[in-house]
Amino acid sequence: MSAQFPVARPRRLRRTPALRRLTAETRLAPADMVLPMFVKEGITEPQPIPSMPGVVQHSRESLRKAAHEAAEAGVGGIIVFGVPAVKDAVGSGADAPDGIVQVAVGDLAADLGDSTVIITDACLDEFTDHGHCGLLTPSGEIDNDATLERYASIAVAQADAGAAVIAPSGMMDGQVEAIRSALDSAGHEQVSILGYSVKYASAYYGPFRDAAECAPQFGDRASHQQDPANADESLREVFLDLDEGADMVMVKPAGAYLDIVRRVRDAVDVPVAAYQVSGEYAMIEAAAANGWLDRDRTIMESLIAIRRAGADIVLTYYATEVARALG
Ligand code: PBG
Repeated sequence: MSAQFPVARPRRLRRTPALRRLTAETRLAPADMVLPMFVKEGITEPQPIPSMPGVVQHSRESLRKAAHEAAEAGVGGIIVFGVPAVKDAVGSGADAPDGIVQVAVGDLAADLGDSTVIITDACLDEFTDHGHCGLLTPSGEIDNDATLERYASIAVAQADAGAAVIAPSGMMDGQVEAIRSALDSAGHEQVSILGYSVKYASAYYGPFRDAAECAPQFGDRASHQQDPANADESLREVFLDLDEGADMVMVKPAGAYLDIVRRVRDAVDVPVAAYQVSGEYAMIEAAAANGWLDRDRTIMESLIAIRRAGADIVLTYYATEVARALG
């Protein structure tokens, strides 16, 4: 016998593109992706975001066009972030019926119908003059329970405007329950909740804070977002959100937390989303601009890795571009 030859040859299945395609364990489809979009009050032309080349703060009109393009490309959903013209201590713009998110979502709900899922980020940091995700006590601490009432009101305003899914991102304790009960009381029992259940206090949000103009004016978010050192804590957060009524859960950021995505996927039976955040986008763009990485391959590899780790849904600024490339 010719013992010098390998019996098993895993390379057989890697030999041609068709074999590799047939045997791929993980796939990425347009419908798996959600596009985050920024809309700014009071502008008529989209404005570039320097730390996120290719991403813009939309005007109401340009948002409609870009959302239509995303839906046409088959993107599964869009998530809308608002940048108000005026900010105050309580984030009044966040739940005003004529607040930027509400009017923009009203446009999109009318334009898009059921062609893609309209999600809204429910938080206060974009709307407060201090840039924190909650109301502050006189001594400058975040007042968790007072903030819950604001979140409840924001969620109802967003649902009234036409959002199908509300995604609370502030990491206040009890936020899902507060939002669920407010939505139900307002007759929005069919509006679902995507919990940002696992959200780390991450440096990777840096460019987003330019995009949404929401950097905290003092302090940081470490009193409510999670310590990157922790993993078990993420499961605790996920189970709490599910008990409180979350329909889906999210892990954020994605790339540096793929172990957490996998643990969450293995622990729950609801859809799991992961958010490839602004800093992940910026890193790829910066390296590609320098000719240090192959941009297209890096984008695809980063996204398939998030799916392989177990995410059913991937939030990514690349959603429309990749959906088009996938055809
Ligand atoms: C909070 C929120 C943030 C992001 C999404 N929702 C910023 C933060 O928590 O500081 C970050 C998204 C990204 O970096 O792409 N409203």
